[in-house]
Amino acid sequence: MEKFDVVIIGSGPGGYIAAIRAGQLGLKTALIEKCKELGGTCLNVGCIPSKALLTSSDHFVFAQKDAAKHGIIIDNAHVDLAKMQQRKDKVVKTFNGGVRALMKTNKVTTFEGLGTISARGKVSMKLTNGETQEIETKNIIIATGSAAIELPFAKFDGKTIVSSTEALNFTEAPKKLLVIGAGAIGLELGSVWARLGSEVTILEFLPRIAVGFDLELSNLLQRSLTAQGITFHLETKVSAVKIDNGHITSTARKGNEELKFEADKALVSVGRKPFSEGLGAEKVGVEFDEKKRIKVDKHFKTNVDGIYAIGDVIAGPMLAHKAEDEGIACVERIAGKDGHINYDAIAGIIYTNPELAGVGLTEDQAKEKGIDYRVGKFPFRANSRALCNDELDGMVKFVADAKTDRILGAHILQHAASELIAEAVSVIDFGGSSEDLARTCHSHPTLSEAVKEAAMNVEKRALHIVNR
Ligand code: FAD
Ligand code: NAI
Repeated sequence: MEKFDVVIIGSGPGGYIAAIRAGQLGLKTALIEKCKELGGTCLNVGCIPSKALLTSSDHFVFAQKDAAKHGIIIDNAHVDLAKMQQRKDKVVKTFNGGVRALMKTNKVTTFEGLGTISARGKVSMKLTNGETQEIETKNIIIATGSAAIELPFAKFDGKTIVSSTEALNFTEAPKKLLVIGAGAIGLELGSVWARLGSEVTILEFLPRIAVGFDLELSNLLQRSLTAQGITFHLETKVSAVKIDNGHITSTARKGNEELKFEADKALVSVGRKPFSEGLGAEKVGVEFDEKKRIKVDKHFKTNVDGIYAIGDVIAGPMLAHKAEDEGIACVERIAGKDGHINYDAIAGIIYTNPELAGVGLTEDQAKEKGIDYRVGKFPFRANSRALCNDELDGMVKFVADAKTDRILGAHILQHAASELIAEAVSVIDFGGSSEDLARTCHSHPTLSEAVKEAAMNVEKRALHIVNR
């Protein structure tokens, strides 16, 4: 029986990054993936294809509506959806090849098949070539990720009631798209199809969109998306989704009112659940929490020696970069090093236009915790580069401790928020203050000057602003 130091089940960003780090540290490593391609949800049906479509559809809106403002006249701008989808698939394929190459360079043995834990230190595999094989290992890392949650009254049929996976692959823009859930998936894929011509209606049972993000910025995002043609119904509880002749009728309650929605397709994006069952973990005594997530300690160790878990299958935000960093920290611990993660410095981003990014505490969370805090804000309409770029929507907002000035949270709504937030993540990770950031020289003219000005405005001393 072949013996390994580490066997990783699942090749998403948690698993394949853990495999690279294990290879770098000289551990004999195996990576098992049940799908043909490596890269998991993120690469194959998540982060990467959705961002490819978001970029393409954003370019289309520019060509169709915004180019003329720059004096660029594009007559008859239209979409070749088949080509747009082919480009997206090519992006995914290129990265699939990249991940496979990285496994080779780092001397990771890959197996294509379903992995289950057969005993402590043993993993058996049902390989896609029909064979079964068992391997022995000192350490097992479970990185099996998550799957879309289904609503009992709106089961996925893959055609009319769909999850994000199918909504990434529509071959034509649905005339009317009903989206249930105004979280990351609903807002991103709702945006893609609204930009490509669908009439998009988003239903959300909470009184706000983008829960978890700063409320003030989420409200501004909702205003921008509404201006882009998306209709929102908040505090709306869907009770039925019926398909008749390929056409959807949905019933929902908003207060005392009963609402009916007609659509061609419904995207159900109400969250994801951990992929933790049927793995054999329960048979060897691994404990789960009430949400069926695998329980781990702060070093990703389960209650069973030699078995670890990382990524979407454990608690915490379901984000690729969180899974990656857990993969690295977990392997470093296995190798006797002191890998760790600062969960206060993990940004969440929704890649709409404008993008919404946040890290650390929101203003409401600081209030709830009874923290004495100060806020510094700066709007992009007062930033020279945003004016050049014609990207004036949004603002930067810092939440800082009133006594120590330490930055507790940073929130950005801007076309490039996903890149701008990285600076705040670094400062938060280093335990920096708003003054540290405000005294750092930022190049001109850049959007990042708005980040500096918001930090300055914690002390109410932003420069390019009339009303502080
Ligand atoms: P996964 O990526 O889910 O990988 C788990 C892998 O394990 C899968 O390949 C699965 O096939 C395999 N597997 C499961 N069981 C077994 C088994 N028994 N044997 C062998 N293999 C097995 N996050 C971001 O940070 N940014 C984004 O922009 C973003 N966009 C997203 C867009 C969409 C539409 C979706 C659905 C998700 C998005 N996410 C994004 C979330 C992100 O994809 C996940 O947080 C991330 O993929 C989790 O990584 P993971 O390694 O834990 O699991
Ligand atoms: P989500 O948890 O982000 O949002 C789900 C939304 O659906 C919530 O607002 C919730 O209140 C609402 N909801 C739940 N049940 C409902 C119902 N019956 N009727 C109406 N609304 C309902 O989940 P989502 O968007 O499905 O994404 C899943 C995961 O994937 C998230 O955890 C997210 O982190 C990750 N992801 C991350 C992305 C990113 O980082 N840019 C992009 C896409 C997904």
